Order: sequence, then C-alpha cells, then structure tokens
Amino acid sequence: MIQLHDKHFVPFISAEEIEFAIKNMAKEMDDDFFDEQPIFIGVLNGSFMVLSDLMKHYRGMCEVSFVKMSSYEGMETTNKVNELIGLNQDLTGKTVVVVEDIVDTGNTIEVLKDILKSKNVKHFKIATLFFKPEAYKKDIKLDYVGIRITNKFIVGFGLDYDGLGRNLPEVYQLKE
Ligand code: IMP
Ligand code: MG
Repeated sequence: MIQLHDKHFVPFISAEEIEFAIKNMAKEMDDDFFDEQPIFIGVLNGSFMVLSDLMKHYRGMCEVSFVKMSSYEGMETTNKVNELIGLNQDLTGKTVVVVEDIVDTGNTIEVLKDILKSKNVKHFKIATLFFKPEAYKKDIKLDYVGIRITNKFIVGFGLDYDGLGRNLPEVYQLKE
C-alpha cells in the first residue's frame, strides 16, 4: 500500500500488464499506418510515460509531439477543459494520433478533437492506455484502447493525485 497526500492506494495493474497492453497498441498501429507517417501527440502531463513507451515499440516512420491541457482538480473533473498549449505545428493533411493516459468522461478528447479537426488533418485517431467505460459520456470512437478499468480513481504510470504518483511504474487504485 502507498500513501499520497491524505489518501491510501493499493496495487491494481502491474508494470508487466501495462507493457503488454502498450506493445499491443503499437502493433495495431504499425499495421494500420503501414502507408502513413503519423504524428503522435501526447496530452501532458499524464501521457508522458505512455507515449514514451509506445514510441519504443512503434516501428514505423513518425513524428512525436506534446500538447498540454487540463480538466482535473484533485479527484474530480471540473467539467471545463482548458485550452491547448504548445501546438505550434501545421497539421494540414497529416494523420494525427492523440495519445492519452486515460479517458474518463471524455471531456478532454472531445475538446481536443474539435481543436485538432479544425486544423485540416487527414485522419484523426485517439489512443488511450486506460479507459473507464462506465464514466464515458461521449460517443466519440476510441481507436486504440490499452486497458479497460472500472470507475475507480487510479494513480501511477503518468497519472497523479494532486501532483503526486506520476513516477510510479505500476498503477494503484484508491483504497476504499
Ligand atoms: P476526461 O476529460 O474526464 O476524460 O478526463 C481525462 C483526464 O482526467 C485524464 O487525462 C487525466 O489527466 C484525468 N483523470 C481521469 N481519471 C483519472 C484517474 O483515475 N486518476 C488520475 N487522473 C485521472
Ligand atoms: Mg491527461
């Protein structure tokens, strides 16, 4: 068990399970993009570990970039998503793959999709390591999903509780 601030967390998903899921995502993408040169865009802060590991397994020619936005304060979604920081690149005609650590309500990817689609991209795809189907409120299709989880608050592998826990190599869930 670990403690971050005032909360306790118990082990939930191992580093091995995560690696397996990411390898599979990379394999699927390699197959799908054999004749494309995609640009992978990680959503900071949470996705730094996923994108890093995903890129070690993706074999095709590609570009890598990051944007930043935030929708969470503490353990609850604020229901408003801030604007996109750091996108200073022309995406016209490109195959864009947004890479998320987790898709929860879907608010973040909805905003991302609107902003990025307006940039005349050729294809827009969404990849996420973790997905909470019970919390999802949108009907935007998720193209690559690593691991589906129940509606529990998790930390580790990029995910934080008020800033802490991102460096953990495995995932923990809130102790009830
Ligand atoms: P959404 O906009 O509600 O889909 O939330 C997406 C963002 O909220 C993610 O990129 C995370 O930064 C954060 N988030 C969602 N669920 C969790 C969680 O269980 N632990 C930590 N952060 C989370
Ligand atoms: Mg995030």
